[in-house]
Amino acid sequence: MRCCYFLLVGLLCCIFEANAQSGRKTENFNTNWKFFLGDNPQAKNTEFNDGTWRSLNLPHDWSIEGTFDPKNPTTQAEGGLPAGIGWYRKRFTIPASSTNKSVFIDFDGVYRNSEVWINGHYLGKRPNGYISFRYDLTPYLKFGGQNVIAVRVDNADQPNSRWYTGSGIYRNVRLVTTAKTYLVNWGTFITTPHVDDKSAKIALNISVYQPAAKGRITLETIIYDAAGKVVAQRTSPVKNSKDTVVMVSQNLQVNNPRLWSVTDPYLYKVTVKVFEDGRLADDYTMHTGIRYFNFDADKGFSLNGKPLKIWGVCMHHDQGALGAAVNTRAIERQLQILKAMGCNAIRTSHNPPAPELLDLCDRMGFLVMDEAFDMWKKKKSKFDYHLDWEKWHVKDLQDQVLRDRNHPSIFAWSIGNEIREQFDSTGISIGRELVNIVKQLDKTRPVTSALSEADPKKNFIYQSGALDLVGLNYHQEVYADFQKNYPGQKFIGTENMSALATRGHYDMPSDSIRRWPKDGKTPLKDGNPDFTVSAYDNVSAYWGSTHEETWKIIKKYDFLSGLFVWTGFDYIGEPTPYLWPARSSYFGIVDLAGFPKDVYYMYQSEWTNKPVLHLLPHWNWKPGQTIDVWAYYNNADEVELYLNGRSLGTRKKNGDDLHVMWRVKYEPGALKAISRKNGRVVLTTQVNTAGQPYRIQLKADRGHIKADGNDLSFVTVSVLDKNNNLVPNAGHLIKFKVEGSGILKALDDGSQTNLEPFTGNEHHVFNGFGLAVIQSKVKPGAITLSATADGLQAARVTIESN
Ligand code: GAL
Repeated sequence: MRCCYFLLVGLLCCIFEANAQSGRKTENFNTNWKFFLGDNPQAKNTEFNDGTWRSLNLPHDWSIEGTFDPKNPTTQAEGGLPAGIGWYRKRFTIPASSTNKSVFIDFDGVYRNSEVWINGHYLGKRPNGYISFRYDLTPYLKFGGQNVIAVRVDNADQPNSRWYTGSGIYRNVRLVTTAKTYLVNWGTFITTPHVDDKSAKIALNISVYQPAAKGRITLETIIYDAAGKVVAQRTSPVKNSKDTVVMVSQNLQVNNPRLWSVTDPYLYKVTVKVFEDGRLADDYTMHTGIRYFNFDADKGFSLNGKPLKIWGVCMHHDQGALGAAVNTRAIERQLQILKAMGCNAIRTSHNPPAPELLDLCDRMGFLVMDEAFDMWKKKKSKFDYHLDWEKWHVKDLQDQVLRDRNHPSIFAWSIGNEIREQFDSTGISIGRELVNIVKQLDKTRPVTSALSEADPKKNFIYQSGALDLVGLNYHQEVYADFQKNYPGQKFIGTENMSALATRGHYDMPSDSIRRWPKDGKTPLKDGNPDFTVSAYDNVSAYWGSTHEETWKIIKKYDFLSGLFVWTGFDYIGEPTPYLWPARSSYFGIVDLAGFPKDVYYMYQSEWTNKPVLHLLPHWNWKPGQTIDVWAYYNNADEVELYLNGRSLGTRKKNGDDLHVMWRVKYEPGALKAISRKNGRVVLTTQVNTAGQPYRIQLKADRGHIKADGNDLSFVTVSVLDKNNNLVPNAGHLIKFKVEGSGILKALDDGSQTNLEPFTGNEHHVFNGFGLAVIQSKVKPGAITLSATADGLQAARVTIESN
């Protein structure tokens, strides 16, 4: 009897356990899709035969697989890659055990005009290519049977952007299964209304969906520190209500909080659980950071009470040769390169970003300005979002704020970039409307707009009085007088510089500054025939400045809270100042392949404490030529330059100088620089004249990657001479072969004019460097990349995936 009793209790416990553990199931829904490039209205039907379609995994960008062609309707502004219409279909089964569940599909972003059908039933259309959206599949699913989802993507109307967008389901897709009672999507808002050293008050507003037939509903929130220890917990009953959506507020306290900052991005984990009659119906886990910040009209920005200059960069969403298709490792690599430069902030120009970018910024310690639009009602290109404005802008902006407002990294919202309505009175009404939409959902962050009209009297978005921060794009000449012209206002440089450079290319003299294209027209009359731009930080768009010019101003005044350099990385499209064959931008501090241009080290010398001594240019010139030698340095009083052992003199930065320079008559050999502090050597660096190209070198950024079919190793390809010097003008065609458990995902060289595809097995290097991107397969094992070229010794590198 006793034994039976135990058995029964044991069984009940098991049953209870199984139910208690059910909660939410989130499945990656990226694999095994069928794709067709073209239109076929029949493809929405369940019975449609997609047997001949291509099989692929998401995220997917079909434009990046195409050929650069100036005749493509995307135009040079979007990189001249093809767009068009594409269809995706996927067959999947839903277990019979889910019959009483709710099932949703989440799309992080589809460029653009997506339309979705489930089992032939139309779910809807979403024009905005950057917004995340969800559909409830529950009423149309065959539980215990096969289902078909079909997605039509229409990016045919061109041009619709000023930069490369990509085409397709280029972000992640998930399937989410919950009980009938569940936590509303983006329905949890977590804030920290009070933070000090001793404690932080954590407030949660949680929306619960509870259908008519419901039991007793309770909510539990648990906060864990990074080590997994519970630091706060609260359980609240959900009041019985006729409403299907009920909002519950909870207040928790975390003692001795460890604050989130850009140098210590400490995250807590928050799990919210909803129970129905004691059974777990749904649960959701997010991370949060405890921090506070302030903008002050005199003192600028502060984070957790300490002044912090915003050292930001603007970024478009493409991942260079990988296109728009989201890959977390590719985004992480970009951020690592920027972090090593000292950058502490990202502006998601000019659209809602991939959620992975925000997660990484939370984790790696970047502030984020989350931007919504590049245009409102008035267009910038013929078929852009202005056509969808009337019907969609409220929903799109709401969804962006709802999705993103729990990220500790986000410190400001931008309602638009260089919006045309700033020039007429509609800027007042629309500006107020948008700020109001944001504030209804999040009052904890300031709202700005990136303004290009710097005269406060002529700028109607500013005149709306609705902005918390005055965001200025360019117009660095008015910054010093900002407090006079905008009394009591708070400043942020939303977009700055637009300096231009090609990695590894140098035009003399370095100290004459050029503004391009002066007359606003291309091709340039005084540009280089090979479409290069000098990397001596002496060229900028005529509306902008060199890097040094604007940074000197921002650095000088505390009330200038910071800036966002246009841009961190080169991106595909907008190749100002040139016409075809230029197909990607020249604005980056880092080139498209991820190789820093020289000015990267100017920022590093200013924005980090690590010792920097960077010498430019390379040392392969014509004998007798006059060459300007620059050094960026920090943590030292002076730099001495030597050519073949002879001192060419010592230079010190004076006043607000950001580099030192020597004018040198070229002779081949060794150019060496030594930085010294109080007479003691801080750093030494040397550039040698390279001899004949001799061999290829391959260097993987990571020798071990995950065997998950997604992870990447970025391999730098260099052409070296016999003595291991980089050959600075090498442009060899390199042939690649990958064997083992990986594939060759993409190739690039950072050139702005190379029209070779990013896919395939061969690619030229540019100014000595190339990039091969290796992707793992799901099967663990070794991956070997080999590279060969005419006249060069071949190279191999092995990467382990497990
Ligand atoms: C700005 C614009 C950016 C980019 C940049 C190029 O005016 O906001 O999107 O076009 O110019 O200099």
